[in-house]
Amino acid sequence: MENLYDNPDYYDLAFSWRNIAKEVDVFEECFRRYSEIPVKRVLELASGTSPHLEELSRRGYTYTGLDLSRAMVSWSRAKARKLGIDARFIEADMVDFRLPQPVDFVFTMCGSLYAKSTDEFLEHLESVAKALRRGGLYFLDWCINFEWNQPKGEQRWKMERDGVEIAVRFLEEVTDPASLLLDKSGKFDFVGWWNDWDLARPMENETSANRPITLVRRR
Ligand SMILES: C[S@@+](CC[C@H](N)C(=O)[O-])C[C@H]1O[C@@H](n2cnc3c(N)ncnc32)[C@H](O)[C@@H]1O
Repeated sequence: MENLYDNPDYYDLAFSWRNIAKEVDVFEECFRRYSEIPVKRVLELASGTSPHLEELSRRGYTYTGLDLSRAMVSWSRAKARKLGIDARFIEADMVDFRLPQPVDFVFTMCGSLYAKSTDEFLEHLESVAKALRRGGLYFLDWCINFEWNQPKGEQRWKMERDGVEIAVRFLEEVTDPASLLLDKSGKFDFVGWWNDWDLARPMENETSANRPITLVRRR
């Protein structure tokens, strides 16, 4: 079959295994815990068939979807019209985009962060920073991978020389290059990352990754 993204009907079916209401519950828990601004307007990047549009709109949020594919944008626009939802759709590249009006929350789902180089990723963050009001959250679903094969955990040992004894506690932790790049952008603070959409399971305590979510906040 050709590109799934040119076939929104098939895409929508292929990714329909998610529990959308539960995912929007997690968004709202993030707003309550971590957003420094009230959330009304939300932006989905690489929005595809906009699976969260209906649920978000039902809960009172105003939705904007941005996607590179004309087929996806038209499909979602038609869906919103059919559902009687007043939403905006923009055909654009998530690496470099501008919104007419800033939003209070941005999200990218299912690893859909399409930046092909460090420069593109930094350009993407610059675009998100312009689109997102200060104190607002950027939510990344499985856009950051975790390398579990790296050494991890605590080591302890003692050394003695010339009557001086030293007790060493040495902790190695996984550092993800994406978080370092976030620092480099200078526009976001790291809030946290959790496994499997569960805010009770920070990645630091996990031994494997399944659909991890990452949250950063616009400075
Ligand atoms: C896996 S789908 C995600 C769709 C939707 N967010 C969801 O949760 O089901 C990826 C989408 O990214 C879009 N896409 C690919 N490259 C893009 C880019 N550079 N900028 C914006 N959208 C892009 C594709 O057209 C496709 O609709």
